[in-house]
Amino acid sequence: MVSRPQQVWQNPVRLGGFGHIRPAKIRENPYSQAMNPIEPSRNPIRAALHGRVGVPIAVLRAAHRPAILRHLLALGEHDRYLRFGYAANDAHIRRYVEGLRFERDEVFGIFNWRMRLIAMAHLAYMVRSRQEQAAEFGVSVAATARGRGYGARLFAHAMRHARNEGVAQLVIHTLSENAPMLAIARKAGASVQREGGESEAHLVLPPADFRSSLSQWWQDSVARGHYALKNGHYRLRRWVWRALARQRTVVS
Ligand SMILES: CC(C)(COP(=O)(O)OP(=O)(O)OC[C@H]1O[C@@H](n2cnc3c(N)ncnc32)[C@H](O)[C@@H]1OP(=O)(O)O)[C@@H](O)C(=O)NCCC(=O)NCCS
Repeated sequence: MVSRPQQVWQNPVRLGGFGHIRPAKIRENPYSQAMNPIEPSRNPIRAALHGRVGVPIAVLRAAHRPAILRHLLALGEHDRYLRFGYAANDAHIRRYVEGLRFERDEVFGIFNWRMRLIAMAHLAYMVRSRQEQAAEFGVSVAATARGRGYGARLFAHAMRHARNEGVAQLVIHTLSENAPMLAIARKAGASVQREGGESEAHLVLPPADFRSSLSQWWQDSVARGHYALKNGHYRLRRWVWRALARQRTVVS
């Protein structure tokens, strides 16, 4: 158990409307299980790919803003409340998406085979002091894609990246009723401090080493290849459908 000085973040980044970070009891992250959920699929090619490399996590950039907006706007009222900590309306979500700082933070997500963004996570870096960096994690998974391990997978990805960026602590603000989010954080070894309706999870990350950097490089390279394959598959399918539709129009 490590005790931390009682202080508020100097530069809190708000991923939602949750309160500022309060001091919490922190325990070491056992960092035991890497969480390797496998997307269930009937298609043998997809199943083989996912079984081998896990579902690929794409790095999202400014060009993905429309996809991010679409994903977040599709969240129901209660999910928006869970994600942002307040009843975010469409205008709030638009502002949030426009304000994403891709050059500073990390935003990543999971696309389905129709290239729809079905899960996304935001890792916001913040400087706690000159010596200590922290990052805040926020996530959402489309209602139809839940329970497949995507939330846990995005969290594991965030842990790996934050660790390799020299981040000492990962922070998650969530509502105390958010059982799946708290389950993900606890499973990764986070300590959770509950304060009424809100909870705050803190996860201490070990320092980066050669193995963690190599693991990140490998996973990201495989994911990039997988993403390109998925994108190519989608474009080819679309092209074939359009060509067939054109032919049908000419015949009739
Ligand atoms: C929270 C959220 C991201 C989880 O996504 P997900 O892809 O369904 O999560 P996973 O499939 O990885 O499962 C998470 C864990 O929660 C557990 N879980 C699910 N429902 C649960 C419940 N009602 N009570 C307890 N645990 C639950 C799952 O069993 C799983 O644990 P396991 O790996 O030990 O089986 C998703 O529910 C979501 O988008 N919610 C709305 C937005 C939100 O709440 N964001 C978080 C705020 S930062």
